[in-house]
Parts: sequence; C-alpha cells; structure tokens
Amino acid sequence: MNILILGSGGREHALAWAIRQNPKCDRLFVAPGNAGMEPLARLADLDILCGPDVIGFCEENAIDLVVIGPEAPLAAGVADALRAAGLLVFGPSRAAAMLEASKAFTKEVCDACGAPTAAWARFDAAEPARAYIREKGAPIVVKADGLAAGKGVTVAMTEAEAIAAIDDAFAGAFGAAGAEVVIEEFMEGEEASFFVLCDGVDCLPIGTAQDHKRVGDGDTGPNTGGMGAYSPAPVLTQAIQDQVMAQIVRPTVAEMARRGTPFQGVLYAGLMIRDGRARLVEYNVRFGDPECQVLMMRLGAQALDLILACAQGRLGTMAVRWADDHALTVVLAAKGYPGSYAKGSAIGGLDALPEDSFRMVFHAGTARQDGRIVAAGGRVLAATGRGATLAEAHARAYALVDGIDWPEGFCRRDIGWRAL
Ligand code: AMP
Ligand code: GLY
Repeated sequence: MNILILGSGGREHALAWAIRQNPKCDRLFVAPGNAGMEPLARLADLDILCGPDVIGFCEENAIDLVVIGPEAPLAAGVADALRAAGLLVFGPSRAAAMLEASKAFTKEVCDACGAPTAAWARFDAAEPARAYIREKGAPIVVKADGLAAGKGVTVAMTEAEAIAAIDDAFAGAFGAAGAEVVIEEFMEGEEASFFVLCDGVDCLPIGTAQDHKRVGDGDTGPNTGGMGAYSPAPVLTQAIQDQVMAQIVRPTVAEMARRGTPFQGVLYAGLMIRDGRARLVEYNVRFGDPECQVLMMRLGAQALDLILACAQGRLGTMAVRWADDHALTVVLAAKGYPGSYAKGSAIGGLDALPEDSFRMVFHAGTARQDGRIVAAGGRVLAATGRGATLAEAHARAYALVDGIDWPEGFCRRDIGWRAL
C-alpha cells in the first residue's frame, strides 16, 4: 500500500522508520518531512493544514492510508476532509480532537464519564477567575483553554503567580486560545504518559513513557516540548494501567461515542500517579514527540499493522507483540532553545553512526544545504537507543550523541535518571 505521513518532526521520522520496515508498505511519502527522512520516503511540499491540497496529492499518488502526526491538522479538520473524500485516515475528527484542543471540553467529558482528574472551573472573564483563585489559594494551575503550543499552562506556587497568569491570558498572551481559562486543583505525584489506540469502539494500549520537559539537567530551567523520553515508564505498573483503562480511557472513549463523535487515532493520556492511583492531567490526540521515538523503536514494523487496524476499525482483532525491551531517546537542540536560537549550523558525524533496530538518530528539525545536514529548528535530533535494560538503551543513545559533531547544539546528560 501507498502511505502518506503528515508532519515534519522527530515523531514523524520515527513513524516513517517503523512503517517503512513493514512489507505492506509500498511507496511512502512524508509531507513536508525533513532531511533525515530522505532515505525512507519521498518528501512532498504540501500545506498539511489544507484538506483539499492533501486530497489532491493523495489522488495523484494513489495513497491508501494517511497518518496524521501533529495536532494542528487534526484540530483544523483535515482528517474529516480526507474521510469525506473516501480516504483511509489514522487520526481523530475535528470534533474528537477537541480532547486536546479544549481543556474545558476534556474536563466536561471527564465529569460526564466519571474519570478521575483535578477539580476545575472555567472562566471567560478575569475578575471571577481572580476571585476563584483567592478562594482556593495556591498552589493552583491556570490553563489557557485552547492550543497554545505547550505554553498555556502555569503551575502557580503562589496566588500572585496565578493571578498574573490570569491577567496574561485575558490580555491576549495566548491569542484566542486564552479567551477562556481553566483553573485546576494542583495535583502532586509522578507524571507519566500512556498511549492507547482507539478505533471509536475498541482500545488497545501500545505503551507507556516518561519525558523530561525541562531544558536543563536535574529538571531545571524552562519547559520545552520535551528533551528526552524513555519507555516503558516503571511507575505505570500493570495494575495502574488497568485502572487507567477502566476508569479513564474506556469511559472517555464510550462518552465520545455516545456524543456521536467517536475517537479514532491515538489517545495520549498524561497522568499524575500518587499512592498507586492515576488521575488524568490532560489528553493529547496524537503521539508525543519525543515519546513516539521510543514507542516506534519498541514496536518496529508492527506499528503499521496496528495503525492500519485502528484506521479500519479492526482493533478488536489485534494484539501487540511485546518484546521485553526498553528504549530511551535524547533530544539534541540548538543552543538557546526554548528561547531564540540560530538556524543553519552544520551537523557532522551522522553518516558514520551505526544505525539499526537498536540505534537510530531521528531527525526533528534538519534540512539539507549544499549536500550537508544543517539545523533548521529548536529541537533538531533525537538519538534513540533500545536494549534489554534501560541502562543498555541509555548507553546506546548516549553513544550516538557522542558521535555527533555539532558544537552549536546541546542536550541533557541525565535522561532517564528517575528510572535508572
Ligand atoms: P498540560 O499542557 O495540561 O499537560 O500541562 C503541562 C504540564 O503542567 C503538565 O505536564 C504537568 O506537569 C503540569 N500540570 C498540568 N495540570 C496540572 C495539575 N492539575 N496539577 C499539577 N500539575 C499540572
Ligand atoms: N512531549 C510532549 C508532547 O508531545 O506533547
């Protein structure tokens, strides 16, 4: 079959790498993709937020399956447009993507189905929001309702911080995403991510992960999109996964179906675990980046069979073939990230790296310039290792890092510390 992946990050490189290994995959395209994917797929210069453009490309290239990587095309309804044109799609409808695109929507769904999550309230004006904060006190969490590129959440340790976040949101700091604000109870505990394929009816867990959001070693400095991740997440024991499926994921999927907006795609549950019990922090409606890199490293070629079954509504017949393995990925970012950074510096050493099913450098923000690979984004590479133990995966990932010659880049040296 011919497959088109939408997106251009490390997540999409990892998807392309896993899908390419499956003999069912004939021709593989990625739009817009990046330089690291050139050996695996043909890159297509497409506006992935424009349904008609993507449909036109699929018709010209006899595409049988479209895999949507990022949230923006999902929230823009690209999956709906493709399905209406008769294409097979992996990724939720615009209505189901509300589980990521609106925090208040997700909280309503949780309340409707009884899923455990933080107590919350929504506000569309500053004064009642300030009054609520004064009533509840700190610590407290303030969230812009809509998609804010990961920047819309303030975990406020003081009332003053929370009130400043309210003032920012209503002053337009997050654009339309902050026109409504959700204020939540602060949850203590350890965070972990749980990934479940859903075909609207059936759900199939495909792995757990933990990421490192802070830019600096020891989990210090500003938040980022993620500086590294590992899978599995030891804190998500089988008992907790069973609780999450029974109390959070299955009820959510049933509630979405009941509303006439079934969820099809990957549901990424961000969880807070405390005293052996998980509560939902948030949903994403796509794979995490860099969590996808470690999941794909572990799933390999079967990822395509699972994604295809999900898109075709056949998940009930599927099982994951688990290997007793671990994967860990280290993100290399341009110096200055998540603040301002330069683009265009050359990255050496990549060609000499050993790459196989235990070691892969996934590209996130790279381009080819005069035959060389250059940095073209904030998060640039994800050096990923797999092994029988987390320590082995860690050693393989950092061996890749140490073979990369990129003075303008940096990475954390402590990815996986919590689990190692
Ligand atoms: P979100 O975008 O909702 O995932 O929030 C970003 C991060 O803020 C999460 O990964 C948590 O670390 C933190 N966070 C969000 N909501 C809460 C909460 N209710 N209690 C504690 N931390 C939270
Ligand atoms: N790494 C976090 C995310 O993809 O949302």
